[in-house]
Amino acid sequence: MILAISILLNFIIIIFFYKKKIRKFFLKSKISEISLSDVDEIFQLEKKSKNLKGPKTEAIIKSFCINSDNKIVGMTSDYEAWIISALSKKSKNIFEFGTCSGKTTFLMALNSSNETKITTLTLDPTLISELNQFQNDNKISQRNIFNETIYDKFLFSNQPEENKIKVLFQNSLFFETTNFIKKMDLIFIDGGHTYSVVKNDTEKAFEMIKNNGVILWHDYTPGKTSSYDVVRYLNKIAKKIKIFKIKNTSLCFYRKK
Ligand SMILES: C[S@@+](CC[C@H](N)C(=O)[O-])C[C@H]1O[C@@H](n2cnc3c(N)ncnc32)[C@H](O)[C@@H]1O
Repeated sequence: MILAISILLNFIIIIFFYKKKIRKFFLKSKISEISLSDVDEIFQLEKKSKNLKGPKTEAIIKSFCINSDNKIVGMTSDYEAWIISALSKKSKNIFEFGTCSGKTTFLMALNSSNETKITTLTLDPTLISELNQFQNDNKISQRNIFNETIYDKFLFSNQPEENKIKVLFQNSLFFETTNFIKKMDLIFIDGGHTYSVVKNDTEKAFEMIKNNGVILWHDYTPGKTSSYDVVRYLNKIAKKIKIFKIKNTSLCFYRKK
């Protein structure tokens, strides 16, 4: 009896301490990695000297950082933000699922041309209580949607770049793509991370992307609880569609051929 209890206790302790690794084991990345220089020619490096390579002019961006005391939720890393910003430089029509503080929206606006139009879709914080919850959706991701739907003004508010940006306060599940079919050069999917929302946003992105356009998904992180549904869904569709994970990021990448 004592032996059985101690085996059970050990088992519980192992699961408790190794739960991340166990989850990672069962939900591995099934998506091939791609080096950043294969994502786009702008990321190929220029030789400066025998032992130094640097960025091409096309990959040099305007950027900002936020004081870490100002706890903004739901942000990309600076490396990911640079990739998104650099791709914005050559994109005339950009669509974003998930605005949050507007960090990525602002970066895309800062770096794109004056003619560029950016549409960013986000939930209205005053209507968040009416949001439907779906049974098969990851509970942590459902909770994060509530935690991240708190802004009605954005980092780009009252900045000149705001003129390029249209914010749609709408649930993406009810968003109609009719006016956007095959119009977008760049789509960033970073809205709700539940299975139902990632699936919906991805299917709509495939309708809206232009030939040679790029779709990026954020938070493909096998083993991270809040990314569980993003990983589950992307692993599933990557069996049929050429999606790659960009090395050293949580970004997945697709280019329409
Ligand atoms: C991770 S944050 C976006 C972060 C932002 N892209 C950045 O990097 O600065 C997720 C955003 O998606 C929005 N969102 C979640 N579910 C949504 C849905 N069904 N429709 C529209 N927006 C949604 C939330 O309101 C939140 O603003």
